[in-house]
Amino acid sequence: MAKVTYITHDGTKFEVDAENGSTVMENAIRNAVPGIEAECGGACACATCHVYVDEAWTEKAGAPEAMEEDMLDFAYDVQPNSRLSCQVKVRDELDGLIVRVPERQA
Ligand code: FES
Repeated sequence: MAKVTYITHDGTKFEVDAENGSTVMENAIRNAVPGIEAECGGACACATCHVYVDEAWTEKAGAPEAMEEDMLDFAYDVQPNSRLSCQVKVRDELDGLIVRVPERQA
């Protein structure tokens, strides 16, 4: 279990208790966090679950794998800390994770 905080583009915070093994995207959808669309349902095929991982968490969250990297090319305003939230799995180590939702999805 990990607490994940989503900060939307207008600065609204959503704090969520996320189960280990679920994804950051699934928890956003379950808790109606605005701005995360996840059109492909987590298959790494749409890039509409794009988030920015808070700088303090980028190392623990890890780097995107090749398939995610390719898909990120379709996301809007990609930054070095961009991730597709369906590819970030919750685990104890990520307790306290903060992600920001971009202004818009692809
Ligand atoms: S939900 Fe489609 S790429 Fe993440």
